[in-house]
Amino acid sequence: MKLLTRLEEARALDPVSDKIQSAVQAAVKPRTLRDLLHGTWLGHPLHPVMVQVPVGAFMSAAVLDLIPGRRKSATALIALGTATAGPAAVAGWLDWSQMTKDRRRVGLVHAAANLTAVGLYASSLIARLRGQSARGKALSYAGLSVAGVGAYLGGHLAYAQSAGTNQAAPEIVRLPEDWTVACSLASLPDRKTAVRKVADVPVLLYRDGDRVSALIERCAHETGPLGDGEVVGTGRDACVVCPWHGSTFRLSDGGVVHGPAASNQPVVPCRVREGQVEIRQP
Ligand code: FES
Repeated sequence: MKLLTRLEEARALDPVSDKIQSAVQAAVKPRTLRDLLHGTWLGHPLHPVMVQVPVGAFMSAAVLDLIPGRRKSATALIALGTATAGPAAVAGWLDWSQMTKDRRRVGLVHAAANLTAVGLYASSLIARLRGQSARGKALSYAGLSVAGVGAYLGGHLAYAQSAGTNQAAPEIVRLPEDWTVACSLASLPDRKTAVRKVADVPVLLYRDGDRVSALIERCAHETGPLGDGEVVGTGRDACVVCPWHGSTFRLSDGGVVHGPAASNQPVVPCRVREGQVEIRQP
């Protein structure tokens, strides 16, 4: 859609976007909390999981408002949705703060729509608690409409702009299906990463003695160059730290140890035959 393309390209949003980005990053400092909110422990972003509660509560309230005698239940659901929208928003803002500019532009309007929707629901709750039933219903239906705009933009972020997806996964299918020589074992430095291109796909190789492990080199988070990243730890716990936003992946199995990446780095099957390092598709 033309309107969404124009939003993705709306550079006028960048000054405010940059300021909010700095504020979000300064506000959520502890790494454990960041990993928790990014969904590093879950295997995919936490934000879309958390929004299920307020969305479900608001949708259910909209249905109950159509049924006579269900006013109290609808009010309770709106209270639940309003209370749980905050934590979901914090997780979303944190993910947003590590996105590319075009995604942040869309994300900013997505967040503004959702903030407006929650404001309308909070006003609805107050009206309902004051016994202003008709006003409460009108405000909550207005909130639902605005939340629909927010959800639409969230869908665009996830499905059209691939925000929050594993950016390295598509590389796997571009690798050869059969074992293919990447390089000689002797050419790899010990306990350091090296990058070799196979079928034009950059592959990150890590040699530890006679053992070699291989990962897709473009970071699962936003395609940062893991080949330029620092190696920390040793043995099975050796990890590579992405130079762009600090996502940390175990070199032995691609497991994500720290975010903002929420998914593992794709592993490339790798073996050593007659002094040659060979790789192929899984
Ligand atoms: S690109 Fe963001 S952590 Fe690697």
